[in-house]
Amino acid sequence: MEENLIEEIRALKARHNAVILAHNYEPGPIQDIADFVGDSLALARWAQKSAAEVLVLAGVYFMAETASILCPAKTVLIPDLNAGCSLADTITEDQLIRWKREYPDAVVISYVNTSAAIKALSDYCCTSSNAVKVVEAIDPDRDILFLPDFFLGSHVVRMTGRKNIHVWNGECHVHAAIENENMINKVRRHPDSELLIHPECGCTTRALAIPPREATSRILSTDGMLSYARTSPSGTFIVATEVGLLYRLRKENPEKTFIAAHDDALCPFMNMISLEKIRDSLRDGQYQVNVPAAVGKKALIPLERMVAVG
Ligand code: 13P
Ligand code: SF4
Repeated sequence: MEENLIEEIRALKARHNAVILAHNYEPGPIQDIADFVGDSLALARWAQKSAAEVLVLAGVYFMAETASILCPAKTVLIPDLNAGCSLADTITEDQLIRWKREYPDAVVISYVNTSAAIKALSDYCCTSSNAVKVVEAIDPDRDILFLPDFFLGSHVVRMTGRKNIHVWNGECHVHAAIENENMINKVRRHPDSELLIHPECGCTTRALAIPPREATSRILSTDGMLSYARTSPSGTFIVATEVGLLYRLRKENPEKTFIAAHDDALCPFMNMISLEKIRDSLRDGQYQVNVPAAVGKKALIPLERMVAVG
């Protein structure tokens, strides 16, 4: 049954000159059928490079919007329009306009987990893999408004030592629910493990202080975790992020052990995408993601800056 579906998807991809781009949190069967699997930054870069006419985004809505803004000549499809993001929903245009009025000279840096309208009001975008580098590229004397993720923002403040970063108080409900206690319990059970922590986690700010774990904790994006796990000599890792990432970690490193910091850390939006919906999406050309031209034009500037910063 699933094999027939996969065959159907392959044939539809060829007929429409389409590729499937999947985020690292997508369920295993979707990662397996995808032409490319990666983190937010890698997906954006790959969308730009791809020669395909149709991009099917197996991920969440802001990722499809990002691809559409970066590649206006391509058709960008998302298989389920309800695949949103609780973090992106934590700031509205009106709220950002009001915040900018309070700090008229500040540089606005938006995490890529935001709507196109928020990006259009921003100077730079960043992802978890380049947030620190983007901030380091800004004149040290300029105030920065960093949004919307509080934990990622706190991580950036800590890493850069800057005192003039104002951080929005938003959070991802999946990552915020991964608490320090979840990690401490797992660390006690697996004392020789290394900790891989996504900077959106509620545990981020305190995790490095779990004595004597400082030397074995790493705060990384999802692609950062994948490359770290490939080269680290350690055999066991506790992974504090959405559990979908464990599929790829295990597939690429069958000899190593990966343990979820919190077994319930499942993003309901990423898991709305299914093979059936991908088939329907390719067959019926649904659901097309179009960003209004005026918004797309403004949002392209911070997005291109994000892609340019390594
Ligand atoms: P990455 O950019 O690290 O893949 O994270 C995206 C995301 O949505 C995290 O929840
Ligand atoms: Fe958004 Fe959180 Fe899901 Fe990532 S894991 S897509 S930040 S809700």
